[in-house]
Amino acid sequence: METLILPTDSSELAKEAVNQAIARLRNGEVVALPTETVYGLAADALNPEAVARIFATKERPLFDPLIVHIRRADALATVAAVPGEIEKEINRLTQEFWPGPLTLILPKQPVVPDLVTAGLPTVAVRVSAHPIFSRIVRGLERPIAAPSANRFGRISPTSASAVLEELNGRIPLIVDGGACSCGLESTILRVEPAPEGKGKPLFHILRPGPVTADQLKEFGKIVKPRPPRPAESPAPNPEAPGMLASHYAPATPLRLLHRPEDFLPAPGKRYALLSYRGDPKDGFVDRHDWEEIAILSPGAGKLPEAAVRFFFLLRQLDRLGIDEIIAEPVTEVGLGQAIMDRLRRASARKLDP
Ligand code: TXA
Ligand code: MG
Repeated sequence: METLILPTDSSELAKEAVNQAIARLRNGEVVALPTETVYGLAADALNPEAVARIFATKERPLFDPLIVHIRRADALATVAAVPGEIEKEINRLTQEFWPGPLTLILPKQPVVPDLVTAGLPTVAVRVSAHPIFSRIVRGLERPIAAPSANRFGRISPTSASAVLEELNGRIPLIVDGGACSCGLESTILRVEPAPEGKGKPLFHILRPGPVTADQLKEFGKIVKPRPPRPAESPAPNPEAPGMLASHYAPATPLRLLHRPEDFLPAPGKRYALLSYRGDPKDGFVDRHDWEEIAILSPGAGKLPEAAVRFFFLLRQLDRLGIDEIIAEPVTEVGLGQAIMDRLRRASARKLDP
């Protein structure tokens, strides 16, 4: 199959791309679409055959449920049944953060195929803020199921060329909406009613992302997350089933080191550094004659910039064919929590084939 990339740089081109994407989605095909977080591999969420194609294309295990993208918050009831006890909180959250990078876990409506939710009674829902995605989901008039447009367990794509690298020949169409403005996948949140109906609802952040714990805490009480599961252990039913410890891995082994002194190069091996701000004062840059140094946010170190560049730079380092990528930690506050989550998962990858 030939993979076509359609640009959206002018209003005519955008219109053509949007129309072609809608036509293919109606036809039960899968297409890659831009969102503000990462590119998604989209299909009609209410068509089980189309959804099955997402799993096949990504080689994704069927136990890992998909996110359903709706056009606006007022369409939420079509796919999810919001429990009365948390209705007020859900409304506040959707008003504040939708459209945007927040995914909510809610009881599902029967119309959502079990394949989408991997048999769970809940569904993950979000509204993308990307203008092109938004036009497509509105034009289709159906919800869109879309995981990140990478092969399973690999680096999420934040540009059309990254999608091509992942899925060339496997999908008919990539809509090129430019580089993703967040660069990290949405925050996934499950809201639990306040214990005995008193006080704030409990917020379980199943995946840290662009909407930070700091932003969420005024709406609910953040419950401390469980530590990620080790890559080796089976995943019978973790709370977010796709959140295996070994996610987001480059093909090249990656090691997150907290202290530069912990880096002891093996003779003859080639290493690259993924640095937060490229500052020698942090101790990593001059530690070794690195094959390459990729800097997430040169200068003062800005977390939003680091987030936008994260998957892009990781992908670039992965192409070098070196022995190992060494990653410096970033400041673990705000967006830094989402970046550190991805670094830990990439670092947990099993090193043998
Ligand atoms: O930003 C994003 O969320 C992107 C864009 C394309 O929207 N999508 C994305 O999808 O990151 P994906 O499939 O790569 O990650 C979705 C995560 C998985 O880890 C999955 O386990 C979790 O959402 N998930 C989906 N449905 C769930 C449910 N009912 N309960 C708990 N977790 C769920
Ligand atoms: Mg993914």
